[in-house]
Amino acid sequence: MYLENQEITIRNTRGSDTEILAKWWNDGTVMAHAGFPHGLGTTAEKIAKDLEADSDERRRRLILEIGGKAVGEMSYTIVGENDRNLDFPDHYCVDSLFPGERGELTAEIGIKICDPAYQEKGFGRRALSLLIRELFCRKVSRIILDTNLKNTRAQHVYELLGFVKQGIRYDSWRDQEGVLQSAIDYAMTEADFVDYSGESEEHPTWSYRATTGDDLERIWDLNVRSHPGKPIWERFRFQAFRHEDRKMSKTYIALRNGEPLGEGTLLFDPACEAVGDLKYIVIPGEATDVNGLRIVKKYEGEGHISRLMKVMEEDAKRLGFREITIGVEPVESRNLAIYLHWGYTRYLEYEFDDGALVIYYGKTL
Ligand SMILES: CC(C)(COP(=O)(O)OP(=O)(O)OC[C@H]1O[C@@H](n2cnc3c(N)ncnc32)[C@H](O)[C@@H]1OP(=O)(O)O)[C@@H](O)C(=O)NCCC(=O)NCCS
Repeated sequence: MYLENQEITIRNTRGSDTEILAKWWNDGTVMAHAGFPHGLGTTAEKIAKDLEADSDERRRRLILEIGGKAVGEMSYTIVGENDRNLDFPDHYCVDSLFPGERGELTAEIGIKICDPAYQEKGFGRRALSLLIRELFCRKVSRIILDTNLKNTRAQHVYELLGFVKQGIRYDSWRDQEGVLQSAIDYAMTEADFVDYSGESEEHPTWSYRATTGDDLERIWDLNVRSHPGKPIWERFRFQAFRHEDRKMSKTYIALRNGEPLGEGTLLFDPACEAVGDLKYIVIPGEATDVNGLRIVKKYEGEGHISRLMKVMEEDAKRLGFREITIGVEPVESRNLAIYLHWGYTRYLEYEFDDGALVIYYGKTL
């Protein structure tokens, strides 16, 4: 996930974040609200190991940046119908968590603005709004969270956002010092949501992520519409869906206020048509090739494709790929400069059957 609105960025944690996470998690003043007044006593190495299991589909620990500075963390965990055996508090009606209409997914979220200089400036409600809206876009039907009964500031913000109190679990857990604590549980559906993100035409939210639900449909509608009288794009569309269904490729998109405007696809299987004869460029589980990287012309040169590529590279690495390539026709000299800027180096030159010369750039992930 990579979400941006004005000075707020919410993004997946990276390897380089483990030091600051360790600093925050070991700080009793930051962790007291979560029951750890002496801090967690963890290390950057342990955190790195723990974060390895994160995936977009299931659980993400996120970094909240304000003006490019990491000031806190957020998270989401998505649970589905198959997770009914999860240990939900008694007063949650599990059937109501999975109402069955919109994909039967519930997300539990969390937020901690760790740098006190950034608390109580309205960032919490805006950041939560961005995350909540994104989760509803991903067909999550209900969002839940809990907080300490004493944390009236958090409760105030959650209630502003439309969270509905579910109940209080009195003296339900003990903190690090053995003191009994009470928790208050909240839930919201999309109908309850009051959006404080500040998103507008003037201040758009950009989101960069793997396609979900009907995203692929929407981006291919745009591709076909943008190439009138060129039936080959219908064929590309068919191939894209077939490859995605068979997990031979994965498409990522850039959305502006929820509208898909840019995309890129990772090819995982040498049988994908776009690989052509150059079979060794894609080796399952080892080397992936980027295909169809583009954005609507109006938004070129604003850094969106760089952000999308970062998301794609991170995911490729998570999926176990060690090498990534991208092809460019020599006439596209501007692209060439960008690839070098992203740390890619020239791998090989290849002339396709139709005479098109493509230079492949690549790097180790
Ligand atoms: C809780 C948290 C996410 C809220 O984000 P934030 O950016 O500080 O909050 P905002 O600036 O959007 O809003 C703060 C609101 O709380 C109100 N508030 C402050 N102290 C309060 C208190 N003791 N009781 C009730 N409301 C309080 C403010 O008046 C303001 O509301 P208003 O605009 O209606 O006047 C953030 O403070 C935080 O991360 N705190 C530390 C960790 C934490 O508690 N996380 C939540 C754990 S579940």
